[in-house]
Amino acid sequence: SLKIDPTRRGPTISDTMYGIFYEDINRAADGGLYAELVQNRSFEYSSVDNSGYTPLTAWSTVSTGGASGTAEVVDDAERLNEHNRHYLRLSLDGSGDAAGTYGVVNSGYNSGMFLESGKKYDFSVWARTDQARGTTLTVSPTDESGASLAAKPLRVELRGDRWSKYTGTFVARASSTTGRLTVAAGGAGTVRLDMVSLFPRDTFMNRPNGMRRDLAEKIAALRPSFLRFPGGCIVNTGSMYPYRAPDWPRARSYQWKDTIGPVERRATNANFWGYNQSYGLGYYEYFQFAEDIGAMPLPVVPSLVTGCGQNHVTEDPELLRQYVRDTLDLIEFANGSATTPWGRKRAEMGHPKPFGLTHIGIGNEEPLVDEYFERFLKFRRAVESAHPEVTVISNSGPDDSGPVFDRAWELGRSADVGMIDEHYYNDPEWFLTNNDRYDSYDRKGPKVFLGEYASEGNRFYNSLAEAAYMTGLERNADIVRLTSYAPLLANEDYVQWEPDMIWFDNATSWGSTSYETQKLFMNNIGDEVVPSTASSTPVPSTPITGSVGLSTWATSVAYDDVAVTSADGSALFGDDFSGEASQWRKTGERGSWSVSNGAYVQHDTSAENTLVIAGDSAWSDYDLHVRATKRSG
Ligand code: AHR
Repeated sequence: SLKIDPTRRGPTISDTMYGIFYEDINRAADGGLYAELVQNRSFEYSSVDNSGYTPLTAWSTVSTGGASGTAEVVDDAERLNEHNRHYLRLSLDGSGDAAGTYGVVNSGYNSGMFLESGKKYDFSVWARTDQARGTTLTVSPTDESGASLAAKPLRVELRGDRWSKYTGTFVARASSTTGRLTVAAGGAGTVRLDMVSLFPRDTFMNRPNGMRRDLAEKIAALRPSFLRFPGGCIVNTGSMYPYRAPDWPRARSYQWKDTIGPVERRATNANFWGYNQSYGLGYYEYFQFAEDIGAMPLPVVPSLVTGCGQNHVTEDPELLRQYVRDTLDLIEFANGSATTPWGRKRAEMGHPKPFGLTHIGIGNEEPLVDEYFERFLKFRRAVESAHPEVTVISNSGPDDSGPVFDRAWELGRSADVGMIDEHYYNDPEWFLTNNDRYDSYDRKGPKVFLGEYASEGNRFYNSLAEAAYMTGLERNADIVRLTSYAPLLANEDYVQWEPDMIWFDNATSWGSTSYETQKLFMNNIGDEVVPSTASSTPVPSTPITGSVGLSTWATSVAYDDVAVTSADGSALFGDDFSGEASQWRKTGERGSWSVSNGAYVQHDTSAENTLVIAGDSAWSDYDLHVRATKRSG
């Protein structure tokens, strides 16, 4: 039984209580949320990203009409730009018939591209040719067997031996989950290609360079209050040194400046989770997405101390100064007016209005806690003196307890840190038995950002344990201010981490039971906690957990004495119907019914609600009547 005392008030629940943790893990970005269909579009894949990769991963050669040639990925002085150094050089030897073509086919991600009949697709490529009269690029979407998926191929006329961007659009005339894209040319001579791209026109909010609609909509349906990005381990692993041509670290920490501006100028990077990240989804796109779904943006920047098993300190005072400067520039990029240097870059990308950044995280799970904290203080000092309105968040390492964790909290308390990011992944029993974790936290110390957590598994029992645990988070809403389940996304063909909240293949996506739990809590967040206690006989083996949230409803009406009677007035059940609540259902578009204090309460009477009594077939013998008294006041 649950005892609720409505006269007592608990803590208010922050509007930012439930958000999402987004990391480019499990191919969450390329091959996932980022709607680009071409894999390895800029020929930058390398064995540093993944030992199985070559610059031609996902590409193969193709010819028609007896044409032949060679296809080579090169990095030479003819490159597209210093950030996008590799390109494809097709050398056509002029053999074959007049209509013959030689070129390449891209197989997309997983089994192939998902193309839908009747939908528009936008093709683009950077290209040039040394053929004096130019050449025609033939661009054809096909399925795995080579059958065309468009009424006719796109024909793109290439002219001149300087890099230019060429575009075209086609409508798919059939659907396929094994789509391929062929790009081939005729004649004799050299054709250079880079940034070969195919996007569905239909992206989330119809944004160009946008996001896959089904995935973005599933995320939006959570109604998350914040979006933490871009990770996780991808933030602070690899070399801390920045991209500088010609010799640059191929596996670098996530440096936000690499990820903005025209996509063809974003140098790709090896992702900690074993693949290449194109940065097509970059900081601008994440800020825009946060705004589109009504979430507060919460970026996390690297600290010069690596975590996630790499555990290394980069001792370079000049580099540290630059990272701190980059963090201030990031705040200006997000919040500065369009007349500031970085605010102007945001405006040039299409968003003159500021994004409204209020929180920023420094680092992720650094086990070298003292070294990390020394740097954290430098970042915080700089941010607070320039932007006192921004909360700077530190973190407590990779565990839920232990020496690193204790030391991180000790340092955080001593330096009056505003908020500390905790991460933990444990079995469901841990979540059931640790519901009281935050009951004993020091109310005067730093607040908690529970930035990553999940019970280990994607079964119903896991999500039930998480739900029980979340009641403990709500009960401690005065100290636990932000929480996010992790990770958010998983492409089922590239899984580095389980469990995950939303799963997908190329064509479809589905939420795990944990997704439903998160959605339930995020969409029904109370304003304040009403103290309650739960008990049971017999006593269960794991503690009973519960929390009661009070929401402020526009209007509500209570009905007392609701009863179901037969025609002669004898009660079939009712009056104290609360014990039989399972036999009552509601229908209606909005609002809801609940049993409270012996009364049946209809919330939000602006909605049409019908109380439905669920009975069995034996009831058909009765002439049923419902009696209810509307409570006055
Ligand atoms: O969420 C997956 C990983 O778990 C994150 O990258 C890291 O922060 C944590 O260890």
